[in-house]
Amino acid sequence: MPPRHQLVLKNVSIPGGRVCDVTIGEGHVAHAGSALPAVDMIDCTGLIVLPAAVDIHVHMRGGTQSAKEDWKSGTMSALAGGVTVVVDQPNTVPPLTTPEHFLERVAEARAHACCRYAINSAVTPDTPLEAMWAAGAIAFGETFCAPSSYGEALNEPALSSALDRIGRLGALATIHAEEVAPGTDMDLLTHDTLRSAAGELRAIRNVARCNIAGSRLHLCHASTADAVCTAPGSVEVTPHHLFLSREQFGREDTHAKVNPPLRSEHARKNLWSHWNQIDIIASDHAPHTRSEKQTEFERAPSGIPGVETMVPLLLASVLKHTISLTDLVKKTTITPSALIGIPPAGFSPGDRADFAIYPKEISRIDPDTLHSKCSWTPFAGHEAVFPRIVIVDGRIAYNAGDFVSCAPLWIPGKGYQQNP
Ligand code: DOR
Ligand code: ZN
Repeated sequence: MPPRHQLVLKNVSIPGGRVCDVTIGEGHVAHAGSALPAVDMIDCTGLIVLPAAVDIHVHMRGGTQSAKEDWKSGTMSALAGGVTVVVDQPNTVPPLTTPEHFLERVAEARAHACCRYAINSAVTPDTPLEAMWAAGAIAFGETFCAPSSYGEALNEPALSSALDRIGRLGALATIHAEEVAPGTDMDLLTHDTLRSAAGELRAIRNVARCNIAGSRLHLCHASTADAVCTAPGSVEVTPHHLFLSREQFGREDTHAKVNPPLRSEHARKNLWSHWNQIDIIASDHAPHTRSEKQTEFERAPSGIPGVETMVPLLLASVLKHTISLTDLVKKTTITPSALIGIPPAGFSPGDRADFAIYPKEISRIDPDTLHSKCSWTPFAGHEAVFPRIVIVDGRIAYNAGDFVSCAPLWIPGKGYQQNP
């Protein structure tokens, strides 16, 4: 008897138009061609099979912030949106500024996560960056150029020094570029004015100037076309800056309050016109509870949930012929995997066997069907295509609304691999 593999995805339309069977074993693609003997089989006829997404910018909360989200609800939300790798941001409470906190965070995720996860180190003047790298941080930041929710801003000397140290490690620094002008933050328009597009550009140029060592930089959540074009390295854009503008909401709707802010409809359309220059789409999933948002505008926290709706919104755009499927795959899985240095998911032998399988029908986003603890979305009613089945490490993790198996697989950074 020949050995039996884990799973076969039968009749997969792979990029380029070829239809083949993808045989999976030991968490990797074993063969693409005619099916090899396997324990399980999924017939993918008429469905869209994609390498699952890697969301390099999520705030999974947990710990003292578990009312907003925790590793279980956050990663369930990821899986139900076709995301199998999340990169958690370090502006937790307390922030991830010591190896001890970092390892506690890894342990918390290991106990509760349903998918693969990696964790960034905070960048503050007192953070022992080298020790954080050895502890397993996958990257550094987001590095705050201006204060944001639970994020402390760095001054220029501290930024230069941090970038120098991160560069010496051969690591990646991720940047939250903003400038905050003084004034009363009364509504979405003043939020856009006080954290202006021009200020975002100045902050980006300033980071480039401070990067004397020439360290590898990644710009988080560029909110305008100019920011995309000015990025001093790779650049990510969020679904909320692509699909939402402040004009789509009531003037004081705190649910649309986010940093960097939603811009005008004109700026949003201009951002789309620079689609080809965007390297990565990441959600900046930043849930806050309904009651935290239901307060006066100035006091409401900034942040929008989005890990579950990111690929579904983009896939609806593919079905409407606004963007190509090739670009979706490039910007949500191939480029983010390469950026953080993890093996790609894909259809070739040896590729990581993380897939999401979608119908070819567009539905509309219903907040009641989402899995984030915060239980609201600014994308309600938007067109989307949600996955039916999601596979992590060669196993079915999510199937038609059921969470079948959990794969809390930690992805440590290269510093850990050198000092395990
Ligand atoms: O709006 C935001 N919310 N921007 C950030 O940079 C942080 C995030 C959060 O953690 O809530
Ligand atoms: Zn940010």
